[in-house]
Amino acid sequence: MSKFWSPFVKNLVPYVPGEQPKLTKLVKLNTNENPYGPSPKALAAMQAELGDSLRLYPDPNGERLKQAVANYYGVRPEQVFVGNGSDEVLAHAFHGLFQHEQPLLFPDVTYSFYPVYCGLYGVRFEAIPLDEQFQIRVEDYARPNGGIIFPNPNAPTGRLLPLEAIERMLQTSPDSVVLVDEAYIDFGGETAISLVDRYPNLLVTQTLSKSRSLAGLRVGLAVGHPELIEALERIKNSFNSYPLDRIAIAGAAAAFEDREWFEQTRQAVIASREQVVAGLTARGFEVLPSAANFVFARHPQRDAGQIAAQLREQGVIVRHFKAPRIDQFLRITIGTEEQHRALFEALDG
Ligand SMILES: Cc1ncc(COP(=O)(O)O)c(C=O)c1O
Repeated sequence: MSKFWSPFVKNLVPYVPGEQPKLTKLVKLNTNENPYGPSPKALAAMQAELGDSLRLYPDPNGERLKQAVANYYGVRPEQVFVGNGSDEVLAHAFHGLFQHEQPLLFPDVTYSFYPVYCGLYGVRFEAIPLDEQFQIRVEDYARPNGGIIFPNPNAPTGRLLPLEAIERMLQTSPDSVVLVDEAYIDFGGETAISLVDRYPNLLVTQTLSKSRSLAGLRVGLAVGHPELIEALERIKNSFNSYPLDRIAIAGAAAAFEDREWFEQTRQAVIASREQVVAGLTARGFEVLPSAANFVFARHPQRDAGQIAAQLREQGVIVRHFKAPRIDQFLRITIGTEEQHRALFEALDG
């Protein structure tokens, strides 16, 4: 706290990201990164950008990337927004689409950045309880609202909401924006982007941090009706004209173009998720069904905080949220077979 801070800053409650340890020897299963590395074609495209052209500002609109995303999903570039990680894209959506009189609705157990953005942008919200199985009940969202947001699959639960349920939500709240945060969709769900032409109130966000293994590059995107995209562009152009640098635009576009690498690596993650579920179940854990690159599990007899501490002592880090309803759960990122062996050895030790 400092006398130089504005009252606004004094009252902010910032988001706390998962630990990025300095020790490289740790088995890092705490922030849902991809264990397989980015597309070699994306790496080559980024290397090709390292030259004299870095003198020049990048394309403020990231057209090359928008076109690559549009080609991939069969939409038009004017239906695509790109930003510095999907966190930035989400921030612009909170700022530009959710500041209304009625409250924003999101699940009580969800991505913990949502209430932080509400604090930053003065958005009123109501947290809607998930059911006993940690699933979203669509009927609970049929109430006056200034917007709806949820991750699909949800984080940190990993549970998926089928497209048909999302469609019902879009129909019951036609006058507010429904934002589906698809950070993890490629690991087991069907994207709602197929619905954007039919529902002008639907905005879908995605990230290249997870299924395209580019968390360090910071690229995210949104797809929706051009008028929703224009709201995000207006915010972006009032804040930072160049959120994506030349390297990010080139690497992200090439990552979307390399479908083979994407398919191969995401299928590998999906397959090894089943190994993790089997290994945890065999050790007495209850594991929620996951459509993501992580699992959410609890042990009926052991305290989650203590398990996390025991794992950490043995060099394995997982995420433990000290939050209501979920403080007995651990979120464990899907890694390589070797990392899973280390996880199980540490659990058994
Ligand atoms: C549900 C959800 N949305 C968005 C993000 C942000 O991803 P990024 O800013 O890396 O694109 C995350 C990151 O963990 C997430 O879990």
